[in-house]
Amino acid sequence: MVTQTPPVAPVGVAHPLDPLTAEEIAAASRIAASHEPRDGWRFPLVALDEPAKDVVRNYSDGDPISRRALLMLLDVTEGDAVECLVDLDAEAVLRWTPLAGHQPFPLMEEFGRAVEAVKSDAGWLAAMRSRGYSDEQIENIQIDPWPGGNFGTKWEREHRTLKAISYLRDDPSRTGYGRPIEHVVAVVDLTENRVLELIDEPGPPAADSELHYSHNELAPREDLKPLDIVQPEGVSFTLDGHLLSWQKWQMRVSLHPREGLVLHQIAYNDDGDLRPICYRASMAEMVVPYGDPSPTQYFKNAFDSGEVGGLGRLTNSLELGCDCLGEIVYMDGIVTNEYGGSREIKNAICIHEEDFGISWKHTHNDDDGPISDVRRSRRLVVSAIATVGNYDYGFYWYFYQDGSWEQEIKATGIVQTLAADPDDPQITRHMIAPQLAGPIHQHFFCFRMDMEVDGGTNTVYEVDTMPLPPGPDNPYNNAFTAVAKPLLTESDGERVSNAASARHWRVANTNKLNQVGHSPSYVLVPGESVALMAGPDSAIFGRAGFTHRQLWVTPFDEGQFYPAGDYPNQSEPGQGIPSWVAADREIADEDLVLWYTVGMNHIVVPEDWPVAPVHRSGFKLRPAGFFSHNPALDLPAPDHCAHDDRHDHHDHAQHSQNGHS
Ligand code: CO
Repeated sequence: MVTQTPPVAPVGVAHPLDPLTAEEIAAASRIAASHEPRDGWRFPLVALDEPAKDVVRNYSDGDPISRRALLMLLDVTEGDAVECLVDLDAEAVLRWTPLAGHQPFPLMEEFGRAVEAVKSDAGWLAAMRSRGYSDEQIENIQIDPWPGGNFGTKWEREHRTLKAISYLRDDPSRTGYGRPIEHVVAVVDLTENRVLELIDEPGPPAADSELHYSHNELAPREDLKPLDIVQPEGVSFTLDGHLLSWQKWQMRVSLHPREGLVLHQIAYNDDGDLRPICYRASMAEMVVPYGDPSPTQYFKNAFDSGEVGGLGRLTNSLELGCDCLGEIVYMDGIVTNEYGGSREIKNAICIHEEDFGISWKHTHNDDDGPISDVRRSRRLVVSAIATVGNYDYGFYWYFYQDGSWEQEIKATGIVQTLAADPDDPQITRHMIAPQLAGPIHQHFFCFRMDMEVDGGTNTVYEVDTMPLPPGPDNPYNNAFTAVAKPLLTESDGERVSNAASARHWRVANTNKLNQVGHSPSYVLVPGESVALMAGPDSAIFGRAGFTHRQLWVTPFDEGQFYPAGDYPNQSEPGQGIPSWVAADREIADEDLVLWYTVGMNHIVVPEDWPVAPVHRSGFKLRPAGFFSHNPALDLPAPDHCAHDDRHDHHDHAQHSQNGHS
């Protein structure tokens, strides 16, 4: 049955970009499964299929809303999978695409079945007994199944697999990461629920790090006085459904089951003119390649979003006073429960304000002495935290009153460990405790930013600061300049960072001019930018092609959302961004997508044990000619700083401050 007119907004849906409701997830799963009824269907993904941009941009409150859902279906008894597009209004399947050669990410159920398969495997049991472990110890062993990658073996080509490693854990209330069992890896078939292959090689004995981090095992320091964040009149933002407004900023916020926190339609209200900046921003893929060649480490290259099961699905429920401090507004998330229903993640997204030092300040002198003008900066924080196995990743978007915004990643949790033989030192790992080492590794986070700076078409310029050659125009050889080179096609748009020239990328709307005759712009200021260290013939080099550059620029394409391809689990090399840009499409004055990758190095240190302090990384976006002057000029001065009080405290008056900067 196909209806001609879409119904009015479904219950609980106020805007075309609102994520699927619990009712919609159930309906989408039911409609998809009924296309080809099977008992074994599970649903690794059920997500909103976002409407076309013009539909969203032209939407007004109360307009009818059409809803479509994108699903992955996996038959756990047969092992085959389908991608399906459902029209929720017409209750019809629009597309049904069997996924030959692609694997949806593992189900929570499959991680659980992999653990059971390993623990009941005769070969694995024999391997544990041969290491002298008692039945009780074996019972308590922690099994961590990992995406196995794709190393071209028949297991990866012909099976749906995970690779499992083992940790001793005498107390099931603790993690086993202090006691890794070396050189045992079980390759598990997730359809047949059995171990296909057991790697069991001689290795160093399991380490025994007794260091724990739980509060009930430690005596906390007692010299910390309370620090309360008080906002007696409440917060300065409003949240209306998914629409968030704060200090001239406006955006829509949602939790996507795969990408986690997503911001839509980031815009700035400039004296009543709502000026668009970014249509959609998300962390679209990440990968964590390990640099140790040992049997338990070499295959660790987890794409923690698209391969492990979706950052949205792995998002934490946050707790007031723990994850965020102050006056907090939370947004819940709704994701598939894998069985045709949904699961609510309470308090998935935290929205709050933070005092952030000073926004600007200047002190000048008049006849009575120095006069200081200072304005405090407040920032809006929109954040979510996902736990992916041993690691925890926080993603924090910050918005500032001076028109800038920023992404900060907070990586914490527990580092990967291996049992190390102190008499056989390896340069690909670093000791963190006696007999315990952390393998060297990297974290790459690829942010997809669908830009619309002051309108739908933009041009990116690469800006490098350069000295000018000596000559008649540069007689003192002090002259230097910022060279802005437009990126015209996708092959121009493959860029690497260069800290020495303060390289950054300016996203300009060349169809508009500001008051000094330049195009209004935002600049992307890169952060940590380490290069991928795995060699060009490594398995991960080809599968994580997005890591080869810090920036890629592509024209918007509704089929191009995921930097390592739609299905990175067990993927073949060559998918995602490098394959798209081979077309070398025009990118000047086009509807552009920026793909910026933060490259974070992790040379593990003892301070990372037993739980790693937050490692902050990220990048900034700053206005460049977007505003006619400092947009934070109109910030109110703090009450007691608003007046010239020098005569109340005349001992401060000094006439001698004439330093030049
Ligand atoms: Co790390």
